[in-house]
Amino acid sequence: MLPGAEADALLEASSHGVGPIEELLARRLGGEPLAWIVGWVRFCDARVRVDPGVFVPRPQTEALARRAVALLPTDGIAVDLCAGSGAVAVVLATARPRATVIATDVDPAAVACARRNGVEALMGDLDEPLPPALRRSVDVVTAVVPYVPTEELHLLPRDVLAYEPRRALDGGPRGTVVLERAARAATRWLRPGGSVLLELGGEQADELSATMADAGLSAIRVHRDEEGRDRAIEARRPDPPSEGRASRADGSGTRVRTVSDREERVARNEATSREINEGLEQAHEGAPSDRYLRMVCECGLATCDRMIAITTPEYERVRSDPRWFAVLREHVVPDVEVMLEEYDRFVIVVKREGTPAEVAEMEDPRS
Ligand SMILES: C[S@@+](CC[C@H](N)C(=O)[O-])C[C@H]1O[C@@H](n2cnc3c(N)ncnc32)[C@H](O)[C@@H]1O
Repeated sequence: MLPGAEADALLEASSHGVGPIEELLARRLGGEPLAWIVGWVRFCDARVRVDPGVFVPRPQTEALARRAVALLPTDGIAVDLCAGSGAVAVVLATARPRATVIATDVDPAAVACARRNGVEALMGDLDEPLPPALRRSVDVVTAVVPYVPTEELHLLPRDVLAYEPRRALDGGPRGTVVLERAARAATRWLRPGGSVLLELGGEQADELSATMADAGLSAIRVHRDEEGRDRAIEARRPDPPSEGRASRADGSGTRVRTVSDREERVARNEATSREINEGLEQAHEGAPSDRYLRMVCECGLATCDRMIAITTPEYERVRSDPRWFAVLREHVVPDVEVMLEEYDRFVIVVKREGTPAEVAEMEDPRS
């Protein structure tokens, strides 16, 4: 925040009776977080209350919150582990008022603060307080856990170290202790096809990627910030292979399902259609009809990271019949790495089962 804006916030807080301006200024000059003094912080357009002693939500987490919104169906279920003030949960609940959003935190002050922000917050270690009924039914798990490596804590700004709770910061050796536990915890609660999003930093993505793959998650992707630094990791719980259906191994050894049953395919397409509608609506809002947006294939196959570029009229076709995704594959973009960085803000979910050759054999909606 710019110094002028900070001064305005302090003056406003003083005029609302928080305390004499001299006292508020003295607290700020002593290094106390502005959010604790004025009592709130702006996070993704929401005004989030932050009580003294509770971790102050960072602007760098806003992208994760927005991505989580895009992954959460209208009536879906989201769980935010290590919720702190509940900032991410507030954004999710505001954007998806019909969804169920549950948060957890181990710190009673954080739980109380999140509740004051209107969040359904439970106290306990990671996923431990979650109701068992939620197992395998959660659409999105988010977690901004403590991930500063213990050995690098001393590098944090003096005021952060002096004021913010160490439990909110210290991620153990390499900073990955809670991250890894959160990745494994998420796997227990996600529904097949559900996603987990974890904030991370530094050199932690490779280790987390390996943990997630080991936990059985797929479609693992790293989100970078505007400066090109790893900021979050996302993964998906794959759909289980269904019994009684033909399956075979593709060239790389990945087991894939053969698309055969029409009823199941229709059901899948409906789910796809819903996700496309919800996830793409924002991305296409106001976009010129001839501009390409990128769609990421999230079929769940470990080997598939294909993308297509799609115009708004083509998107309308995919909305009306998701099989158009297969038809539109002439726009496949080969250089996924570049595209992911450049177009990551577009949240696009396409379920496409089978190898590209199998998809090509699917019914063509034009015929
Ligand atoms: C970095 S803060 C993030 C808070 C919030 N998600 C945000 O972005 O503002 C980490 C939070 O995790 C909580 N925490 C630390 N270890 C935890 C654990 N094992 N289980 C649950 N919460 C934990 C801390 O109390 C703190 O509120």
